[in-house]
Amino acid sequence: MAHLLRSLLEQAHEAVALALRDGDLAIDATVGNGHDTIHLANCVGASGHVIGCDVQPIAIELARQRLASHGLDDRVTLFESNHDQMNKKWLEKLTPRPLRVVMFNLGYLPGGDHAIRTTKRTTVDALEASYALLDPPGLISVVTYVGHRGAEAERLAVLEWGKALERQWPGVRADRPRILESRFHHADHETGSLILIERPAASVSP
Ligand SMILES: C[S@@+](CC[C@H](N)C(=O)[O-])C[C@H]1O[C@@H](n2cnc3c(N)ncnc32)[C@H](O)[C@@H]1O
Repeated sequence: MAHLLRSLLEQAHEAVALALRDGDLAIDATVGNGHDTIHLANCVGASGHVIGCDVQPIAIELARQRLASHGLDDRVTLFESNHDQMNKKWLEKLTPRPLRVVMFNLGYLPGGDHAIRTTKRTTVDALEASYALLDPPGLISVVTYVGHRGAEAERLAVLEWGKALERQWPGVRADRPRILESRFHHADHETGSLILIERPAASVSP
């Protein structure tokens, strides 16, 4: 039976689709098999661009093939890199497009080596870089999982990072970051979540 409530990944795709316009720039910080990269490439249109990175050469190659089979390879630049290396240089050739979305799908490559997975330290470093690079109004989407070692600690680290970010904008201010966690509840086991971090328009660095 089909569910009425969307999966976390579907909710993530809907959120980034709402944030993106034709001509925008988006980053896929965990390319994996390239499904999210394809979604982002469709959202930014032919005049937009997507930057994708993954630490695994096999992921970059699989994504490259998948993008080519969808005719989307022209609007995507892939880097074999750790996302904690994300910086302005990645975007330089692609300006003046505004960076509106950075997407993270944490964990390991499905069908790949489960030992190669995201970690809380590099994820938080990459989130920090992402927030600074976003052109407001912009959105960071993070899908977290359970079931592998460190997954719950990584989810909590993302939330802690979000809270610390919010504290930099004390009081009620329109430019304060907004953080939303969407999570299914199961009585008998832990669940992953979708964490959305909005950098509102007119945001000013503290
Ligand atoms: C759950 S998969 C991503 C799924 C993917 N977005 C898709 O649509 O198929 C997580 C990916 O993150 C990659 N990864 C792990 N640590 C990373 C890091 N520090 N920087 C960039 N990619 C990383 C893994 O190699 C893996 O391919």
